[in-house]
Amino acid sequence: MPNYQIAPSILAADFARLGEEVDNVLASGADIVHFDVMDNHYVPNLTIGPMVCDALRNHGVTAPIDVHLMVKPVDRIIPDFAKAGASYITFHPEASDHIDRSLGLVRDSGCKTGLVFNPATPLSYLEYVMDKIDMILLMSVNPGFGGQSFIPATLAKLKQVRSLIDQSGYNIRLEVDGGVKADNIQSIAKAGADTFVLGSGIFGHGQPSDTNRYNSIIAKVRAQLGSH
Ligand code: DX5
Ligand code: ZN
Repeated sequence: MPNYQIAPSILAADFARLGEEVDNVLASGADIVHFDVMDNHYVPNLTIGPMVCDALRNHGVTAPIDVHLMVKPVDRIIPDFAKAGASYITFHPEASDHIDRSLGLVRDSGCKTGLVFNPATPLSYLEYVMDKIDMILLMSVNPGFGGQSFIPATLAKLKQVRSLIDQSGYNIRLEVDGGVKADNIQSIAKAGADTFVLGSGIFGHGQPSDTNRYNSIIAKVRAQLGSH
């Protein structure tokens, strides 16, 4: 069985209590913190930047932080996120004029790299850079907002990427982001994903006063994956 990883998207967390929310979701068994960065330019929404990533590290978060850049341009902000403690930095190829250079910048900054594909973005961007990528992220919604419905065509695209990764022989994670829930995660895993972003599928569940408030929803997700 693949080493499945659950990556709650803090976009759906209570921002007024962000440190506590991240502590809770990790204590409840999540693996990675998915950190959505939006600039009101590449996507029509505005969220958080390196200062918040730094604040989470200072708060004591040691889990990997998976920074999903929905910004254009990307290069200027990469070293700032590396300094702020990012583990992965993924970006959309359409948002970079020089994809190979941006990937190099991420690795030179000491972080793991990733390319993100919108529902209609072709996979051809991968052709010459498979050796420079640690993660491929398929968007299963159009980026910009949490709480949207999973686009079913993503399943066929996941299968395609899974075979590209397997053929390449590289150790590349396959992440999926948007509309992932306990009730559809099994078919998404079957299509080849091994890393699952869940925003509204995790945050908001359980009792706010409970330290392990996300225990039961994460257990439910893991049970669907067959991994405990
Ligand atoms: C959308 C973001 C997602 C979002 C997922 O642009 O990249 O990470 O938070 O939220 P849900 O799981 O609610 O679709
Ligand atoms: Zn995301």
